[in-house]
Amino acid sequence: MKALVAGGAGFIGSHLIDALLTEGHDIVCIDNFFIGTKKNIRHLKENPHFQFYEEDLSNFDRILEIFQKEQPDYIFHMAANSDIQASANNPMIEYQNTYSTTFVLLECMRRVGVKNLFFASTSAVYGEQMGAEVSEKAAALEPISYYGGAKLGSEGMISAFSYMNDLNVLIFRFPNVIGPRLTHGVIFDFVKRLKEDSSHLRILGDGTQSKPYIYVLDLVDAIMRFKDTPKGVTLYNVGVETQTSVTRIAEIVCEKMKLEGIPFEYTGGRGGWKGDVPVFAYNLDKIHEAGWHAHMTSDEAVAKTVEMVL
Ligand SMILES: NC(=O)c1ccc[n+]([C@@H]2O[C@H](COP(=O)([O-])OP(=O)(O)OC[C@H]3O[C@@H](n4cnc5c(N)ncnc54)[C@H](O)[C@@H]3O)[C@@H](O)[C@H]2O)c1
Repeated sequence: MKALVAGGAGFIGSHLIDALLTEGHDIVCIDNFFIGTKKNIRHLKENPHFQFYEEDLSNFDRILEIFQKEQPDYIFHMAANSDIQASANNPMIEYQNTYSTTFVLLECMRRVGVKNLFFASTSAVYGEQMGAEVSEKAAALEPISYYGGAKLGSEGMISAFSYMNDLNVLIFRFPNVIGPRLTHGVIFDFVKRLKEDSSHLRILGDGTQSKPYIYVLDLVDAIMRFKDTPKGVTLYNVGVETQTSVTRIAEIVCEKMKLEGIPFEYTGGRGGWKGDVPVFAYNLDKIHEAGWHAHMTSDEAVAKTVEMVL
């Protein structure tokens, strides 16, 4: 098939492209390097099955032209503003990069008659569930970040376009993803700060913030496994059963950097910053019953990622 990967120069999208190419598909990648990098796709430059367009996915006219020219069979929508903290002071970032990119892709699919969509959604659509294990059936979807709101809005539009146009859609809601080509987040911050000054480590919040971290190749494995979906919207929580606290991440970083006795200085409060969901746990029964489990635990994914970031 010909797969269009929106946001394919990003962290997860570039790994997905590698997996799709290995399976023998042709790739059309669209990205404007808002966060993604040329480095992530440099190895694909000479590949005859890979084609790249540097475009803003919220530019409807231009994206429609690409759809008309390329006639893709399947859209993998990986584009968004993935830096939640960055949009806290500027929600327009989410409107343009998270919500509008979805709307534009859906309308292009409708105009050109593309039926298959994968959408990268997020645990952020659930908002703060006070430590409860959330399943796909959670009744209250109350995002607390602009990013979570834009993703939930995108899911709403996907539902409507799917019903109106008989689409086959796979939505994965996943938590923090880490691994090679990661560009930002707590692991990066800790390594950077300790490299600059190893006399202490400043930690946002009280350190008990605790989330599941999934290794990027585990996530890509699940996308590849479930991408051929039936008509309508199929939704899965995808993640790992275990969680890693921020203090544990700090300990792992120190262990890997061979730094002993570093004092941790906490800024205090439950969340790291406004919009951050401090504690999160997933119910993964649905995807487990469908026969998929992550290979790595959350702590293993963190440890392996720290080694790569160093
Ligand atoms: N990384 C995570 O922990 C995580 C967790 C849950 C969901 N997600 C979702 O998974 C997807 C991929 O995340 P990622 O970590 O690879 O992030 P990323 O920022 O590395 O990748 C997103 C890509 O989209 C591109 N992009 C953004 N706005 C664009 C626009 N207007 N036009 C063209 N390109 C645009 C960026 O340049 C980037 O290459 C995103 O939709 C993200 O919201 C990520």
